[in-house]
Amino acid sequence: CMVRHYKFNVVLKNSTKLCSTKPIVTVNGRFPGPTIYAREDDTVLVKVVNHVQYNLSIHWHGIRQIRTGWADGPAYITQCPIQPGQQYIYNYTLTGQRGTLWWHAHILWLRATVHGAIVILPKRGVPYPFPAPHKEKVIMLGEWWKSDVEAVINEALKSGLAPNVSDAHTINGQTGPISGCTSQGGFNLPVENNKRYLLRIINAALNEELFFKIAGHQVTVVEVDAVYTKPFKTDTIVIAPGQTTNVILHADRNAGKYLVAASPFMDAPAIVVDNKTATATLHYSGTLSSSRTILTSTPPRNATSVANNFTKSLRSLNSKKYPARVPLNIDHSLLFTVGLGINPCSTCINGSRVVADINNVTFVMPQIALLQAHVFNISGVFTDDFPGQPPVTYNFTGTQPNNFATTKGTKLYRLAYNSTVQLVLQDTGMLTPENHPVHLHGFNFFEVGRGTGNFNNKTDPKKFNLVDPVERNTVGVPSGGWVAIRFRADNPGVWFMHCHLEVHTTWGLKMAFVVDNGKGPSESVLPPPKDLPKC
Ligand code: C2O
Repeated sequence: CMVRHYKFNVVLKNSTKLCSTKPIVTVNGRFPGPTIYAREDDTVLVKVVNHVQYNLSIHWHGIRQIRTGWADGPAYITQCPIQPGQQYIYNYTLTGQRGTLWWHAHILWLRATVHGAIVILPKRGVPYPFPAPHKEKVIMLGEWWKSDVEAVINEALKSGLAPNVSDAHTINGQTGPISGCTSQGGFNLPVENNKRYLLRIINAALNEELFFKIAGHQVTVVEVDAVYTKPFKTDTIVIAPGQTTNVILHADRNAGKYLVAASPFMDAPAIVVDNKTATATLHYSGTLSSSRTILTSTPPRNATSVANNFTKSLRSLNSKKYPARVPLNIDHSLLFTVGLGINPCSTCINGSRVVADINNVTFVMPQIALLQAHVFNISGVFTDDFPGQPPVTYNFTGTQPNNFATTKGTKLYRLAYNSTVQLVLQDTGMLTPENHPVHLHGFNFFEVGRGTGNFNNKTDPKKFNLVDPVERNTVGVPSGGWVAIRFRADNPGVWFMHCHLEVHTTWGLKMAFVVDNGKGPSESVLPPPKDLPKC
């Protein structure tokens, strides 16, 4: 195995989109940022140097970080931030992982522009479990605000209201032509007739799940969140922030130009509806430049049935070579409600502010990193009394609870090393039913079941798929419904779990698990690196 060295200089860079220019925070001056290439089991060393005025940290989304939680990256969870002028070397090994993942800033809203792909190829000589593609291409989906993103969220926190939605969506950093600003280009994807392309699609948007579609073509889904799936064909994919989806595109149509489109999916009422579409072009070689683009349109924003059909088709490959190791006996059976609430706020516009919670706890970020507090036994930083069951009765399908209030705390849930966990995530619709893409750090999990309405502890588990459920790191909790996941707590450390809609994370839809037996080296996190940032 190899050691791969990267240097990330985090710098400001002027960027022009939608006919206006603003400075953005970037890695090495690029948006999206550079791709990290490696192979399974390689070690990756990334020296991150902070040249901007913000505190910074970078997360390697989906990398398991077995016993190396110090390199995971969420600020105040596994590390103190890298302060302006400082640097930190992230050092981790890609044990048993291959596929598409990504990296992003994990502090403030910096991940809007500080993100890039991680491409992990199989070990040398090991083929993909599908016909070899002719070429591979990263497709990064994102969002763009004309204003400074930190100003957008700061204003919202001051008023207690929801922040503005973005002004555009992007495909590999480009919006495509937008009315009123015709100079804006779109990403161009050249293909040759009859060749196969592996598209590594990543949703790096801050606050929107997305539909993605290519005119005139079906694609074959072969992997999600860096785990192979049973291949299936679809004309539309659905992808939540944090998720990655690999598809094979067979360029089997007549020469021509075909529109590629990405637009939001959200099954919830909203005050400001975001239905802007980003466009790119699939360009067959030999196409006359005068030929017209063949168009397509993505499903409407609330096309829940399209999203459900896609999600239901996802299955683990579960072959001899790539078995699905679903935990069958469960040590911890947890039920977490996720949703939005309202807390009083005397300085806010309505005298209240929107908050978000898990089991009615609005998570409060600590002043020093939880992993440090855990490993060095620093008391007073967190408590480990996170409720394993909802403390307040909820009834999504009936009268909603009239208690929207949440309690505040830095509460963790303690798991014994190697114990097995079943976690049902239930959208309560306390304030409004909404989709919540929930991401767990440090683990992959199996999605064993999902449904609408209230989870039924007696009947629903009988319908769980324990044979070939999809394995991933970010799962969409359906609006007004539930999803059940299972995982083995085989990675000691402190592991963040949160909604990957950035606004919900900011509002408090987050918590952390602490995994440790306190039984010494093999069941504990490794010692911290010497250059670990200090708070
Ligand atoms: Cu992709 Cu906690 O993040």
